[in-house]
Amino acid sequence: MAAAGRITCPVLVDRVTTAEEAARHVEHGMSVGISGFTGAGYPKAVPGALAERMEAAHARGEEFRVGLWSGASTAPEVDGRLADVHGLDKRLPYNGDPTLRRLINAGEVDYVDAHLSHSAQQAWFGFYGPLDVAVVEVAAVLPNGLLVPGSSVGNNKTWLDQAEKVILEVNSWQPRDLEGFHDVYHGTALPPHRIPIQLTHPMQRIGDPYLRVDPAKVVAIVETDAPDRNSPFDPPDEASRRMAELLVDFLRHEVAAGRMPPSLLPLQSGVGNVANAVMEGLLDAEFEGMTAFTEVIQDGLLDLLDSGKLAAVSATSFGLSPVGVRRFLDNPGSYKGRVLLRSQEISNHPELVRRLGVVAINGMIEADLYGNVNSTHVMGSAIMNGIGGSGDFARNAYLNFFVSPSTAKGGAISSIVPMVSHVDHTEHDVHVLVTEQGLADLRGLSPTDRAERVIAHCAHPDYRDRLTDYVERAKAERPNARHTPHLLGEAFAWHLSYLETGHM
Ligand code: COA
Repeated sequence: MAAAGRITCPVLVDRVTTAEEAARHVEHGMSVGISGFTGAGYPKAVPGALAERMEAAHARGEEFRVGLWSGASTAPEVDGRLADVHGLDKRLPYNGDPTLRRLINAGEVDYVDAHLSHSAQQAWFGFYGPLDVAVVEVAAVLPNGLLVPGSSVGNNKTWLDQAEKVILEVNSWQPRDLEGFHDVYHGTALPPHRIPIQLTHPMQRIGDPYLRVDPAKVVAIVETDAPDRNSPFDPPDEASRRMAELLVDFLRHEVAAGRMPPSLLPLQSGVGNVANAVMEGLLDAEFEGMTAFTEVIQDGLLDLLDSGKLAAVSATSFGLSPVGVRRFLDNPGSYKGRVLLRSQEISNHPELVRRLGVVAINGMIEADLYGNVNSTHVMGSAIMNGIGGSGDFARNAYLNFFVSPSTAKGGAISSIVPMVSHVDHTEHDVHVLVTEQGLADLRGLSPTDRAERVIAHCAHPDYRDRLTDYVERAKAERPNARHTPHLLGEAFAWHLSYLETGHM
């Protein structure tokens, strides 16, 4: 019998079964679409049961691996567990799990690192092939069969629509009060039949609060009562505080220059400790009545909501620390009407980001002299996490910032390099770079002016002279190619030096 009255649909209540039975619907070679976004709303039971089936099959000498499609990162119980048993052959569109990262970088798992707003539409376009099974966590199944989403929406709507079979996990840990926190848009269509998305304010509702599923496709429902597992954030260090101060000062400057209203434009803050620290920096600032049109609600945004300085936030998921989760669970009602969770194809939609004039703040791994940004690959080849929504937001933002400490690994790596070893955001897309050394506003500058500013404002003093020397020698070596001066034989010398000696 359905626990805690979470499954009240007479047609579906009979499908309640165990995770083990449900996992039998997944077979070797299938594509599986799961819920989950940044450690929130991922299925808690079926992935573990699937991993056991895989382990048993492998012990019998049989192959059992699947392609896994999600919203974004999940949790150790999903990506970590399935990677541990070598059960994945493909993963998209984002991963943050260290075990899976190792397998991807070892070449065992194919990883399709896609813009998060693209993943749903690319599934609809048929770019990924058919979706066999969806495993989606929800907070409740209503009498009419509508589903109350949980702490993330991600790609759930698309997986439920596209999958041949659906397994639901109904998690009583998810607050029942979440009903009303979501806005699921059902108006997307395939080209050439698309129409403009009628959203002109971050909090505008354009869909309805529920996910829909064809009851005939639901092959199993599993009841769970398990928490989302989000990791704690490091307290902001000196460098993060400094970057936050610089960024907030710059926003002040933009308001004073008449380029932004005193309540700012809708904010987007990326994942990671630095981006979270920047949000904390806004707490002490004078801006009131701010809004956010973003992807994930981290603790920094919750603080801003609690302070009253942030009026409202549209996102696709919570991504709170355990303390943040507690705070939300203590009083979910106080956030109702101020938090709206949407499908990631809408929360990150380029059309909407451009229309609303979003201010985008994202972390980076490295930037080069001319403003190209690498968010994803260490030393050109090893994936860190993925592009996530940074491209969705940055390219279409009214104003974008990329933030990072000026060095990594105790100073052995400069985050400002002659040429980035992988490009996620081109020089044409990047507006402002911020390190603890300073802020470089690159808007409207030519490449050589950008180089000068990036070196003077963002590079660590230990690396400044060498960067200047690189540009000067590049200019001297090819006098008729001074638009973007490079020494091609040397452009990656710093990366090579790190790989060979452990220091740039
Ligand atoms: N070379 C090598 N490693 C580097 C590096 C560089 N230039 N810069 C950072 N790193 C490493 C750090 O050493 C750290 O590694 P560790 O965990 O082994 O210590 C790790 O990258 C994280 O760096 P940190 O400085 O703590 O920054 P962060 O937590 O803010 O994360 C990104 C930075 C770039 C990894 C993160 O922002 C990201 O994944 N971005 C891409 C996705 C995205 O932007 N999503 C938001 C869209 S809404």
